[in-house]
Amino acid sequence: MRKIDIFDTTLRDGEQSAGINLNTAEKIEIAKQLERLGVSIIEAGFPAASPGDFEAVNKIAKTVKNSIVTGLARCVKSDIDATWEAIKEAEQPHIHVFLATSPIHMEYKLKKSPDQVVEQAVEAVKYAKKLFPLVQWSAEDGFRSDREFLVRIIEKVIEAGATTINVPDTVGYASPQEYGELFKFLRENVHGSEKVKFSAHCHDDLGMAVANSIAAIQNGADQVECTINGIGERAGNASLEEIGVAMHIRNDFYQVETGLNLKEIKRTSQLVSRLTGVVIQPNKAVVGKNAFAHESGIHQDGVLKNKETYEIISPELVGEAEVPLVLGKHSGRAAFRDRAEKMGFDLSDEKLNKAFQEFKKLADRKKEITEVDLMTLLTEQQVSVEDVPLFELKSVQVSYGTENIPTATASVVTPEGELKTLAATGSGSVEAICNTLEQLVNGTVNILDFRVKSVSKGRDALGEAVVNLRYNGYTSTGRDASQDVLEATAKAYLNAINRHLIQESIRGKQTAEV
Ligand code: KIV
Ligand code: ZN
Repeated sequence: MRKIDIFDTTLRDGEQSAGINLNTAEKIEIAKQLERLGVSIIEAGFPAASPGDFEAVNKIAKTVKNSIVTGLARCVKSDIDATWEAIKEAEQPHIHVFLATSPIHMEYKLKKSPDQVVEQAVEAVKYAKKLFPLVQWSAEDGFRSDREFLVRIIEKVIEAGATTINVPDTVGYASPQEYGELFKFLRENVHGSEKVKFSAHCHDDLGMAVANSIAAIQNGADQVECTINGIGERAGNASLEEIGVAMHIRNDFYQVETGLNLKEIKRTSQLVSRLTGVVIQPNKAVVGKNAFAHESGIHQDGVLKNKETYEIISPELVGEAEVPLVLGKHSGRAAFRDRAEKMGFDLSDEKLNKAFQEFKKLADRKKEITEVDLMTLLTEQQVSVEDVPLFELKSVQVSYGTENIPTATASVVTPEGELKTLAATGSGSVEAICNTLEQLVNGTVNILDFRVKSVSKGRDALGEAVVNLRYNGYTSTGRDASQDVLEATAKAYLNAINRHLIQESIRGKQTAEV
């Protein structure tokens, strides 16, 4: 069975999607979950891009042990140096350097001749190889590049020390047949191709990312780059979960193995959706809420007689089945801690206490607490930041009636420790809350996007709110889950403001260190 390495780029290409801004704690949480999922390589970020990115890549490189951690760099010395500083303590330091090779990118974006591009790529790979044992080089917009030129530059970077060659379909233009043929062509025509791994990286502009990645695998690619839930630039990247499950279910046909622990798929997908605020479409393959739902009578009848009539993937395979939760409102702190540890959470005493208090509050109000509810509470605590003074919602009250002007009153503790209470009206309850909080956070706030959804099932399910806003010129996304969606909205709003304050504090610290 041929081994295919799964290279996850949720934290780099995925994080580049519009409206996503993860903080370091959240990125670490996702990286730890990707490690549990068994991905071969985690692309943790672009260290030279910002101090926040550098910090996250550095912490992930020190935390993750069972997956290789890499960082993206342009073919420039300062990027490679920054990546080395961020990654050097990783178990197996790996760098991903890239340079565009298509005529349109070379002429208009880089303003360089093909010869100059070859020279820059070779210089960068040679320099990176002095520091890193593992050097991946990417031909950005590789699919739209001239084939003879691709062969020439790839041969040169292999000679310079590259260990993996990635040939992306950066703009999602390829068809599966063409992209597969490109890998076959490169394997057969690049001198030295047997010394390196070939990697596929596909975008989903024409909805072909997964099919193209699989075509590359069938034609000799040893690695595929993908993201959880397919998030990424524009229409996104290839979905990790779709590739992983396809390779497993149709193993008879593809004859490859990925080393993924498929039982962690659902949890990883939910975590990424919750932390990024990117909602999963209900009919999304493998992880959508309807992926295993049989609606029509004929289908239900068939499934009752024999599941295999309409079910090719069992929900249990991807960890979808609800694990019964034995914790209830009478459970003690020790049982709660034990459960949290079994679920893979490693919380400080203070954070565990906070999570326990939230759990007790929820248990008083909700009949049945599910594994998903618990995961939501624990994740919120795990990724919360302790050392930056932030806004805290003490209470919110909304007065609404079809004949009244909606009014919200909120009490908030400011980062300076002052308790402030204000009220404002709006054309609806949500607007009234936003108008009240805007006065309390001292700044101009524009709401760019707002969504609410239920976390688990039933009328008493937790409600999750996601607020994407612009605060004093910066875009930030916040989220929170509460039993009441208006409370969740107020908390998600403040969460977005707080995330901006955390980013500012990281920027401030980095400047002070320099
Ligand atoms: O899509 C792309 O070409 C990329 C490269 C940086 C690998 O993301
Ligand atoms: Zn990409």
